[in-house]
Amino acid sequence: MPLARSLSVTSLSGLEEWDEEFELEDAVLFEIAWEVANKVGGIYTVIQTKARLTAEEWGENYFLVGPYVESNVRTQVELIEPTNPVLKRTIDKMNSSGCKVYFGRWLIEGSPYVVLIDVGFTAWSLDRWKSELWDLGAIGVPWFDREANDAVLFGFLTAWLLGEVSDLEPPHIVAHFHEWLAGLGLVLCRKRQLPVATIFTTHATLLGRYLCAGSVDFYNNLSKFNVDKEAGDRQIYHRYCLERAAAHCAHVFTTVSQITAIEAEHLLKRKPDIVTPNGLNVKKFSAMHEFQNLHAQSKSRIQEFVRGHFYGHLDFNLDKCLFLFIAGRYEFSNKGADIFLEALARLNYLLRVNHSDVTVITFFIMPARTNNFNVETLKGQAVRKQLWDTAHTVKERFGKKLYESLLVGQLPDVAKMLDKEDFTIMKRAIFATQRQSQPPICTHNMLDDSSDPILNSVRRIGLFNSSADRVKIIFHPEFLSSTSPLLPMDYEEFVRGCHLGVFPSYYEPWGYTPAECTVMGIPSISTNLSGFGCFMEEHIADPSAYGIYILDRRYKGVDESCNQLTSFLFQFCKQSRRQRIIQRNRTERLSDLLDWRYLGRYYIAARHMALAKAFPDTFIYEPHEPSSATGFRYPRPASVPPSPSLSRHSSPHHSEAEEDEDERYDEDLEAEKDRVNIRQPYTATKNKTSRTYPHRSGG
Ligand code: UDP
Ligand code: G6P
Ligand code: GLC
Repeated sequence: MPLARSLSVTSLSGLEEWDEEFELEDAVLFEIAWEVANKVGGIYTVIQTKARLTAEEWGENYFLVGPYVESNVRTQVELIEPTNPVLKRTIDKMNSSGCKVYFGRWLIEGSPYVVLIDVGFTAWSLDRWKSELWDLGAIGVPWFDREANDAVLFGFLTAWLLGEVSDLEPPHIVAHFHEWLAGLGLVLCRKRQLPVATIFTTHATLLGRYLCAGSVDFYNNLSKFNVDKEAGDRQIYHRYCLERAAAHCAHVFTTVSQITAIEAEHLLKRKPDIVTPNGLNVKKFSAMHEFQNLHAQSKSRIQEFVRGHFYGHLDFNLDKCLFLFIAGRYEFSNKGADIFLEALARLNYLLRVNHSDVTVITFFIMPARTNNFNVETLKGQAVRKQLWDTAHTVKERFGKKLYESLLVGQLPDVAKMLDKEDFTIMKRAIFATQRQSQPPICTHNMLDDSSDPILNSVRRIGLFNSSADRVKIIFHPEFLSSTSPLLPMDYEEFVRGCHLGVFPSYYEPWGYTPAECTVMGIPSISTNLSGFGCFMEEHIADPSAYGIYILDRRYKGVDESCNQLTSFLFQFCKQSRRQRIIQRNRTERLSDLLDWRYLGRYYIAARHMALAKAFPDTFIYEPHEPSSATGFRYPRPASVPPSPSLSRHSSPHHSEAEEDEDERYDEDLEAEKDRVNIRQPYTATKNKTSRTYPHRSGG
C-alpha cells in the first residue's frame, strides 16, 4: 500500500491551489452507504459526485461498500476480481461462509472500487443477528419493517467485512458510514473493538423528517420533544435507536448543514463534530457561455414536449413561456409542494389581472405509485409527431414540384404548388388535433389518484390547464429518463432547459436540487430552512442578484411565506430575456462555491479527526478556525442591476440574438473582474509535525 498521497484542493476563486501532503501510512478508506451504486435520493448524489476527488486522494485504497442490486449492477458496475490481496482473501472467506459479496469498479468519474453485498442471500442469518442486536442494546426490529431488516443484515455484513480486513493485515482503516441504514455496521465495529477509525454522517434525522411531515411546529420546539415517545408514536423507535447508537458510537459525527447540526444535537443528543456540506462535481466549459447554449438546446426539447402535451390548446406564445419545476422524493409538505401550489394559484391571478403575455408551465417531478403513462398524454406526443410528419410529407411534395418546374426553366405557379391531395392530408392532420378535454395535469395513471396530495391541491385551487389560465401544471410522477417515450431527457438536460427551479422546502437538511440548478446556471428558489439556502445566505452578500432566491420559512407564517414566494415568482415572470440571460450568468458564477474541490476539505478534516481519535499515537489533529472562513462572502455583482432600459445599443436594427451575444460577452468580462476580486476563503498553513484543517464545528 502506498505510503504517502497528495491532494490538491482548489481554493474558491480558482486562483490558488491548496496543496497538502498527507502521510496516511497504510491507511485504507471504506465508505459505506445503502446508496452506493443504488439511486434513491440525494445521498446517492453525495457519494457519486464525491468519488472522483476521494479516488484522487486515496487511489487504490478507496473502497465503497453498498448493497448488491442486480439491475443497478448491470448498468453501472463492472464486476472484476478483487485487486487487493487482503480484500480478495476477505471476500473469498465470506463467500465460502454463505455470503454473496461482489467486487467491481463503479463506472462513474473516478471509477472507484465497490464491494457490493447481497443482503438477501444472507437472510437466513436475520433472526440470529436480530437476537444478537437485542442482547447488545435491547433494540427489537419488527419483522414487517423490511428496510430495518435490510439495515440489520447490511450492518452485520459490513462489520464482518471490516473485521476480516483488520484481522488479516491491520492497516489504519477509516470507515465512513452514511445514514441510519448503514449505521449498525459502525456500532458493531465499536462493540467488537475493531481497530477502525469510524465516522458517521447523517443526512437528516429520522425523527426530524417524520415530525416535519406532520403538522408540528418543528423548529420552535426542537428542545422540547420527548424523543423516545415521538419515535414510539410513529413506530420508528427501533430505527431511531439504530441512528442514535451510530451517532454516539462514532469517533467523529458529522452532518450536512448547520441547521441539521442543531436538529441532531436536540434529537440525537450529540452535537456533530464537524459540518460536511455537500458539493458537486462541477464541469467547466472552455467557452464561458456554453451553458447558455445548452439551455437554449434543452429548452427547445421541452418546447417540443409542450407542443404535444397541449395539442389543440396551443393558444399561447411558446416563445414567451417560462418553464418552472420542482423535483425530488415525493414528500409533499417537507419539500414545499404544498405552498408552491398555493403560490401558483396566486401567481395565476396576478398574471391574469395584469394581462401578462407570459405563460408559466410548471413541472412537478416527484415519483409516486403509478400504472405507467396515460393514454391521453402519449396521444399528445403521437399527434405532434403526426403533424410533424404531415408537414414533412407536404414539404417533400412541394419541393418535388418546385424542382420539376425549375428543370424546365419556369418559375413555379405558386397557386398550383399545393394540390387537393395536399390539402386533404393537412385537413386530416388538423382534425386529429381536436380534443374534448383539457390538456392533462398528470402524465401517468396514478394508483392513488383520489388521495394524491398534489392532485387534490390542483383540484382545490382549480388550475386545470384551461385556456384562461396563465399558469399550467404538468405532474410527472416518475424520475426523468432519456429512454422515456414521453419526455426523453435525463434530469440534467431537463434542468438546463428550464428557467427556474422552485424548492420551497420546510424540511431539507441540504437540498441538492437547487445546488444542481446553480452549477448549471439556472436560478432557483430555496428556503432558510434548507442547508443549501442557509449556506448560500452565509456566503453571498446579495443572493437574489445571483438568482438564488431564499424564501423565509423560518420567521414567517405559512401565508406570509406563500406571499413572498408568489412575489418571487411574479418578479421573475416580469424579467426580460436579456435580464434572464444576465441572471443565469451570475448564477453559474457561484459554481466554485459548490465544487467538491473546495468543499471536499471538510470530509478530509473529518477523516483526519477520526484517525487522530482512533490512533492517537500516529495521528494528530489540530482544529483550526481561520477568521476568514466565517467572514467570506461573494460580493454584490459589480455591474448595475440588469434592466432593458439600460441597453447600450441604440441601433434599432440590433436583433435580439445579437443583443444576447453582446450581453453574454459583457457579463463574461464582468465575471472575470469579480473572479480576481474574490478574497480567499480559507488559509491552510503547513505544519511539519501536524496538519491543519479548516474547522467548522457543528451546532
Ligand atoms: N433527481 C433525479 N432525477 C429526477 C429528479 C431528481 O436524479 O428526475 C435527483 C436530483 O438530481 C438530486 C436528488 O434526486 O440529486 C434529490 O436530492 P435532494 O438532496 O434534493 O433531496 P433528497 O431526495 O435527498 O431529500
Ligand atoms: C441562451 C441562448 C440565447 C437564447 C436564450 C433564451 O442564452 O444562448 O440564444 O436567446 O438562452 O433565454 P430564455 O431565458 O428566454 O430561455
Ligand atoms: C437527504 C436530505 C437532503 C440532502 C441529502 C444529501 O436525503 O433530505 O436534503 O441533500 O440527504 O445529503
